[in-house]
This record gives sequence, C-alpha cells and structure tokens, in this order.
Amino acid sequence: MQKHNVLVVDDEKNILKVVSMTLRKKNYNVDTVRSSEEAIEKFNNNSYALIITDIKLPGKTGIDLLEYVKSREPDVPVIMITAFGTIANAINAMKKGAFNYLTKPVNTDELLNVMKEAIEKYELRNENISLKSELKQKYMFSNIIGKSAPMQEIFDTIRMVSKTHANILIVGESGTGKELVARAIHYDSNRAEKPFVTIDCAAIPSEIMESELFGHEKGAFTGAHERKIGLLELAHNGTVFLDEIGELEINLQKKLLRFLQEREILRVGGGSRISLNVRVIAATNKNLEEEVKGKRFREDLFYRLNVVTVKIPSLRERIDDIPLLANHFLEQLNKIEGKLITGFEDNVTDAFSGYDWPGNVRELENVVERAYVLCPNVTISLKYLPSRLINLAHEKGELFDRMNLLDTEKRLIIQALTQTGWNQSKASVILGISRKQLMTKIKNHGITAG
Ligand SMILES: Nc1ncnc2c1ncn2[C@@H]1O[C@H](COP(=O)(O)OP(=O)(O)OP(=O)(O)O)[C@@H](O)[C@H]1O
Ligand SMILES: [Mg+2]
Repeated sequence: MQKHNVLVVDDEKNILKVVSMTLRKKNYNVDTVRSSEEAIEKFNNNSYALIITDIKLPGKTGIDLLEYVKSREPDVPVIMITAFGTIANAINAMKKGAFNYLTKPVNTDELLNVMKEAIEKYELRNENISLKSELKQKYMFSNIIGKSAPMQEIFDTIRMVSKTHANILIVGESGTGKELVARAIHYDSNRAEKPFVTIDCAAIPSEIMESELFGHEKGAFTGAHERKIGLLELAHNGTVFLDEIGELEINLQKKLLRFLQEREILRVGGGSRISLNVRVIAATNKNLEEEVKGKRFREDLFYRLNVVTVKIPSLRERIDDIPLLANHFLEQLNKIEGKLITGFEDNVTDAFSGYDWPGNVRELENVVERAYVLCPNVTISLKYLPSRLINLAHEKGELFDRMNLLDTEKRLIIQALTQTGWNQSKASVILGISRKQLMTKIKNHGITAG
C-alpha cells in the first residue's frame, strides 16, 4: 500500500506527539510543525495528501493556513482541530473549504475515519485527472470534443458520410461548432490532402460574390485587369464550405444550383464551361425551411444542399459536454500561454452548467480564456468569470450554503450535547451561545436524545 504524506500543525507538543504516533502506526508518513509559517514552508516544498491543523496557533492562525493551501492546491484536504468547538470557528473553517473539523480532545478513531475519507476523496480526484486523457481519445473526433449522446451521434454521422460525395447541410446556433464539423468531414475524407475552401456568404459583398465564386476572365468587366480563379475552382478535388448559406442572394442561389446540378462553372465573361469535382458542405444558423416558406431561399437549392443534415445542438442541450470542453480549452491555453492552470473550482463548474450559453461553445471558450488571463492561481475561481455567470452562481450558492451550514450546526450541537451528557448549560458554553438559543436550535433541528 502507498504511504501517504500527512502534515500535522499544532503548537502543543503533546498533541503533535499523540497524533503523529497514532498516524505512524497506521502507516502514514508524518511531518509535524508548530506554526502556520513553518507549515507553509513545508507545504511549498513537499507534496501532502492531507493537512491537519489546529485553528488556534501563535502568529498566523490555522484559518490563514487553510486559506493559503486552498489558494494553491484546493484539492488537498485540510482537517481543522479546535480546542473549544465554537460554532463560529467551525463554520468559518468549513466555509473556507476545510474538509472537516474535530474538537479537542481528539478522538483517535474519529480522526482516523475522517482522514481515511479525506484521502479517499483526494485520490479519486487524482485518478479522475489521469482518466481524463484516456477519455479524450473516446470523446474527441478531429478536434471536436463531445461525450453527450447527440455529439456522439454526430461523430457517427461524420464517419459515415465523410467518405461519400453527398452534399451536407450543417445547422445549428451561432458558435455551436459548424465550421469545426465541416473541417472534420473534410479531413476524415479522401479529399483530406486537397483544398478546404471556406466561402463566407455573409461577409462577401453581393456585387463581387459571383466573381468570387466562379472567377472571371480578363476584361470581363471594368476593373477586371487579370483573369481570376474563383473559389469553387480553387477547391477542385477538395471541399468547399459555404458558410452562412442563408445569406446568399436569390439570383446567386440560382447560379449555385446550376453548378450543383451540372458540376460545371462558367467564369464571369468566360466562354467555355469548366467541370469541377468539389464536395459541397453548407452551414447556416437560420431555419432554412422558414426561409423557403418566405421565398427568400430557393426550395430546389435547399433540397440539393440538404442531402444529409447534421444538426448541432446548442450547448445548453448538452451540458455533459461543458466540463470536458472547459478543460480542453484550459489545456490548450496552458500549451500556448505557458502558465499552468489545472482546473476550476466547484462553484465555477456549477455556474457553467447552470448558465444558458446563448453564444454556445464560442462563448464558453471566451469565458475560459478571459478567466485564464486574469487568474493568478492554479485553479480558476468564480471571481474571474463575467458578472452574468457570477450572479447566477451566487443565487445558487447561497441556497446551498444555507443548507450546508444548518447541517454543520446540527452536527456541532449534537456533538456538544453528547460530550456533556446532554447538559444543556455546559453544551451552550462549549458552543458559545446562550442556553435559550441552544434550546431553540435543538427544537428547530428536531434533535432528540439517543
Ligand atoms: N465540440 C467542440 N469541441 C471543441 N471546440 C469547439 C467545439 N465546438 C465549437 N468549438 C470551438 O468554438 C468556436 C466556434 O466554433 P465554430 O466557428 O465552428 O462555430 P460556428 O457554429 O461555425 O459559429 P458561427 O455560426 O458563429 O459561425 C471555435 O473556436 C471552435 O474551435
Ligand atoms: Mg461559423
């Protein structure tokens, strides 16, 4: 069995002795120090699976140490020990991310149990990290990340259609990854070595669209000083990606249809037809059926383009993919920027899954990048997200905190009562509240003896 390194911090020599003896017997490697300052130095030079610290210490307190550890390595569990178990201390520690707290005199069985639980959780996390790269293989198809059922289906479709010549229409909201899918189809096809040419129908002014698509001969119109090869011709033997096809003007739709039917083009001002072998993939975030109904898009062209449809769901319809995508963007940034940020704090991941992502994957990518740039720590915390996400997290977090704190309070009261043989006066002294307050709390929590 692997020996775990544990750091124990207490200013009382006796406690250090007892705790470290107990732990060594149980096969832990134990380091002991007597102040937070020394603990921080040890922590920075070693790797611990667990830290146990007294709250009350000379100089920096155990809470200060807890904060320090959580800002550097939030995954390392910290167990707090407190002499007088006041609710305020324990709650404060739990709020700041302590794994658990124990009251003095420390019961060794309880200590060992809490430690075991903490280390198991810590190891599970580490295991998850090494699983990550394995999962990637399964959940990644030529740069597209997705483990959700609809994305896995899209991977299957890509595998099936990429080797054919069928025209493909990719539909999905802005930022869902339409261009990424188009590229994946191309690079998974036997045209991969040939050109992939993107034509953005929304970006090219309609006056020059025809000559962009089909090219022109020298002297075809005023200003045509040279022959120009069009984008379709440039894509010969490869793939052409007609992005935002819904924006293509209606008379050009007719010319495009003709090309799709005859697989031939005529350069503007040219006399002879040139036959081309081009695979056509189109994409749109418009509802083309509606456009057809509104007579803004030719029905015959719609059917020509839409031999196979790939519909990419919005990000809010596949929240399973969010953590995977967020981590993927983080890894990419680590490679490019040279910083090392290993993950996100839990409330950040929660905010990610609760948000509705109108800008889809592109928005997520931007949010991660922004946080990456701003964040000085090894994990990204909530405050580096845009305010729209922070507000959402606060709404959820407050509810969760309230529930968590009530739970902690109940446990502390039961503990104090047990310790004092259900003497409410003594228990209220330990808890640092009045006897009357204690009675109310006992009633509210429904605590009964035995
Ligand atoms: N499943 C995914 N895995 C990894 N990255 C993704 C995924 N989906 C989208 N992206 C990234 O998100 C960004 C937006 O993707 P893309 O440009 O393909 O979207 P789009 O649907 O074409 O958007 P628009 O409609 O606005 O043109 C890109 O940087 C892309 O790499
Ligand atoms: Mg696009």
